[in-house]
Amino acid sequence: MRKKVSIVGAGNVGATAAHWIAAKELADVVLVDVVEGIPQGKALDLLEAMPIEKRDVQVTGANDYAATANSDIVVITAGIPRKPGMSRDDLLHTNFKIMSDVVQKVVAQSPECILIIVSNPLDAMAQTAYRQAGFNRERVIGMAGVLDSARFRTFIAEELNVSVENVTAFVLGGHGDTMVPLARYSTMAGIPIPELIAADRLEQLIQRTRDGGAEIVKHLKTGSAYYAPSAATVEMVEAILKDKKKILPCAAFLKGEYGIDGYFIGVPCKLGAGGLEKIIEIKLTAEEDAALKKSAAAVKELCAVIGV
Ligand code: LAC
Repeated sequence: MRKKVSIVGAGNVGATAAHWIAAKELADVVLVDVVEGIPQGKALDLLEAMPIEKRDVQVTGANDYAATANSDIVVITAGIPRKPGMSRDDLLHTNFKIMSDVVQKVVAQSPECILIIVSNPLDAMAQTAYRQAGFNRERVIGMAGVLDSARFRTFIAEELNVSVENVTAFVLGGHGDTMVPLARYSTMAGIPIPELIAADRLEQLIQRTRDGGAEIVKHLKTGSAYYAPSAATVEMVEAILKDKKKILPCAAFLKGEYGIDGYFIGVPCKLGAGGLEKIIEIKLTAEEDAALKKSAAAVKELCAVIGV
């Protein structure tokens, strides 16, 4: 039997995630949205592309959560996106209400699923979902680090004029202005990036990574990024469905790791069939550790506002 992935929110991120999942033939997909007709129309359109793409998957659209029953993974993208001048944090109250409502409905239909949270502000929304679902932390994971690292990898590969395949990068911390791109653990074919790019130039690439989401919002004006965010989400989906044991930077609920207790923050994680199978603890320099703690403090502040 094929695996089943439901995606809540049939906007750009949700619909494009459905596209990647179907294109990779990873699972049957159910697209859910409150807006009538949108999930049905997008799902049918995508389904009709499958004979051309030679992929056998079901793609269904619905307004009712009954269609999501017994999903292996549920991706939650629901919420309002940013407009120019808005920070991810400006979305807090609206998306908190949406997330609380969605998680309750999702869990009622798929009590065994793994939740991947994509809505912003990411870390606080993951925390909201975790509290509302009552799942163990292995089954609630936030998507941010894969996206932020992909942006950093793009800029590094462009700078060095090498294949993106040769560039690995790690971005830790919250998905916000305080994110922590770790140049020391970023490499070109195994060679640490600080040995290849001058410090001041590297700092510019790091800053561009931090501002990566805002750079897209500035271009689009009416919304935020979706190709890279959805591709990042589907890399996590694939790692779980195929039990790949893949190390990816994800937002995870920490219980003392990195000296942080009781909050979601981006750290290196091992993803497999069990969801979050392990948090990898790496030794940070005093400066990196301070940056991560500062990022955690920003997440804590947001969580306090919504009481999660
Ligand atoms: C971004 C938004 C989706 O980083 O958080 O593009």
